[in-house]
Amino acid sequence: MNRSKITIVGAGNVGATTAHIAATKQLGDIVLLDIVKGLAEGKALDIAQAGHLQLYDCNIIGTTDWEKTRDSNIVIITSGMPRKPGMSRDDLLAKNLSIIKDVSEKIVRYCKNSIIIVVSNPLDAMVYAAARLTDFAKNKVIGMAGALDCARFSCLLASELGISAEDIKCVLMGGHGDDMVPLPRFTTVSGIPITELLDEKKINTLIERTRKGGIEIVNLLGSSAYYAPAAGLVKMADAILKDNKNVLSCCAYCDSQYNIGGYFIGVPAVLGKNGTEQIIELDFNKTEQAQFEKSLAHVKQLVAKVDKLL
Ligand code: NAI
Ligand code: 2OP
Repeated sequence: MNRSKITIVGAGNVGATTAHIAATKQLGDIVLLDIVKGLAEGKALDIAQAGHLQLYDCNIIGTTDWEKTRDSNIVIITSGMPRKPGMSRDDLLAKNLSIIKDVSEKIVRYCKNSIIIVVSNPLDAMVYAAARLTDFAKNKVIGMAGALDCARFSCLLASELGISAEDIKCVLMGGHGDDMVPLPRFTTVSGIPITELLDEKKINTLIERTRKGGIEIVNLLGSSAYYAPAAGLVKMADAILKDNKNVLSCCAYCDSQYNIGGYFIGVPAVLGKNGTEQIIELDFNKTEQAQFEKSLAHVKQLVAKVDKLL
């Protein structure tokens, strides 16, 4: 049986952690690539050596050479500047766009049949840029943010309720920014809506902390999060490579769905071997509709900036 091949571009915090989690789950053979000589090579070697202790067995190499990525099934783009305290994700747009441009050209050349998962920020705009620059089918370019934001919301809910986070299923939509839209009506604990378990005021406090979850970590670490983002990336890659049809909140292309009109934005989607295989449409109430429209307007502004710079 052919093993899957996963390329992870960027061997920094998110990239290397993703490689390690993917190895522990034996997701496939891994190519970790960075422009900094020695960085991907060193981290890949360290991860490979941990396999003896953690009992995984996959080929993992580090490189600066795109030739080694040839014919990967999935390319995960983590190359990009993280924000520092005082910065918003949007401040990264111009710098990270130039990186996405470089990487997209390489993906077209070496991995033209791959599915791309983008994590670089500002997420929704970078997913759009990768789709435009590669001209890949839109179901094959996806962004990771919803899995992370859901994990943050679930973690806060579990702690508040004194229950296992495993039992929480969360739906979170919109762009990956402070105007993201967690949906308490559709968030459950083993099927019980959280609106039955917590009052509105408490839920709103947890939503606000989720929205600010990224900057909370930036202020603690001086750079952005990577364990939970990497876990989100591996969950998405696993759904695609194993054709699991998992329903995950992710940044996917929507046209008629939700009347979005041709933008990549966070929605619940079915992930399988073809990438985004279906967008699940929910009936919003008035408040949810207004919040989603606000978030979509922000994504549109970022996309307009990308179009201006390309
Ligand atoms: P990092 O600085 O630790 O790693 C980035 C790596 O990319 C560096 O090693 C750098 O040398 C490499 N790189 C830069 N240009 C490259 C190129 N052209 N080709 C190959 N490699 C290149 O940053 P970190 O913490 O890993 O974050 C990466 C990105 O992911 C940031 O933009 C950050 O904002 C974003 N992020 C997004 C999340 C999300 O939920 N969507 C969550 C966490 C981070
Ligand atoms: C986060 O939310 C950096 O966007 C990233 O942690």
